[in-house]
Amino acid sequence: MGRKGFGILGAGMISGLHADALKKSTKADLVAVCDVNVANAKKLAERFAPEAKIYSSFDDMLKDPRVEVVNIVTPNHLHADFVLKAAAAGKHVLCEKPPAMSLAETDHMIAACREAKVKFGIFVQCRVREPMRLMKAALAEGRFGKVLRVDAIMKWYRASDYYKMDAWRSNRRFGAGVTIQHAFHYIDLLQFLMGPAQAVSAKMCNLAHPDISLEDTLDARITFANGVPGFVQASTALWPGTDVRIEVYGSEGSAIMEGAAFKLWKFKDERPEDEKLRQAGDAGQATAGSDPTALASEDHQYVIDDCVDAIEQGREVCIPCTAVRPSLEIALAMYQSDREGAEAVLPVDESRLWD
Ligand SMILES: NC(=O)c1ccc[n+]([C@@H]2O[C@H](COP(=O)([O-])OP(=O)(O)OC[C@H]3O[C@@H](n4cnc5c(N)ncnc54)[C@H](O)[C@@H]3O)[C@@H](O)[C@H]2O)c1
Repeated sequence: MGRKGFGILGAGMISGLHADALKKSTKADLVAVCDVNVANAKKLAERFAPEAKIYSSFDDMLKDPRVEVVNIVTPNHLHADFVLKAAAAGKHVLCEKPPAMSLAETDHMIAACREAKVKFGIFVQCRVREPMRLMKAALAEGRFGKVLRVDAIMKWYRASDYYKMDAWRSNRRFGAGVTIQHAFHYIDLLQFLMGPAQAVSAKMCNLAHPDISLEDTLDARITFANGVPGFVQASTALWPGTDVRIEVYGSEGSAIMEGAAFKLWKFKDERPEDEKLRQAGDAGQATAGSDPTALASEDHQYVIDDCVDAIEQGREVCIPCTAVRPSLEIALAMYQSDREGAEAVLPVDESRLWD
């Protein structure tokens, strides 16, 4: 199987995670880096792939035949245009979350990639953590019995400086705010486990960042189509910030992932393998509770390696955009619910979301 050439678009704060994952991969090579800020692109290449070609124009990078897959790592509101361009150039795409700021744009991106016959995956990489995959498999097997509730608890801290580093970080339309920028991963994990939602009630507020007009705190209830209630508590106001928790409670068993490892894995029908499964995941893996750059690259590497395999094997990638669209719809429904002070019943009417 051949290695694939990757290009990174956007060499900002989180790009090192992508470059590190590509450096560690035995299936992928970082062959190009593009950023309008050429100094950023050069710095990234010098650190991780000195041979990589530097581009200041995405159109030029797309002409590079060595670039077979593009990682889109720009601010959220710019993802859509770049995904469409990559698809038109016949490049496979792995895009950072959220896919876009609207469902209409997301559908357009999905259709363009399908038509161009290129892969289109999203980095909601927490899905590939071993405890998450085990929870998903146990749900499919019915091991939890009747699922009673699922919870996503993200009690993080970001200082005001974080929101001021770049203009997009404090503008909701550009993809900022705790709901779409930070909690998106964990809303996605609940959707990954439970499937699409029926209705959402959400309240948002700003607890600790008075100089920014954004929500830093979200409390929401999701009613999933399977009838299970899901609860999201997410904040970037809670110093010093703790590891995220994903909790599943059922009549026959319960499981909690904290950070990237199990805190609880307990079933009434304890099996011999459970003792080993309890050790799944990496308790020491950095998961960004206090520091946005404190993230390990192994989950990104998994998504990248899987994309290379998917291209070689002619199959779908492990996290296609189509599977993340329902998570975006839940997040947008949270905005609608908060704005209207009422439960938002899906499908979301996007014309009601923004002024
Ligand atoms: N998966 C995760 O865990 C995770 C974590 C953090 C951030 N993210 C996502 O990663 C993305 C990037 O976040 P960040 O914090 O690195 O942002 P950033 O603002 O630090 O970096 C973005 C980079 O894109 C460049 N850029 C902007 N417009 C461009 C253009 N037209 N052409 C070329 N380059 C352009 C900027 O110059 C900048 O260097 C966002 O979508 C964010 O949501 C994901």
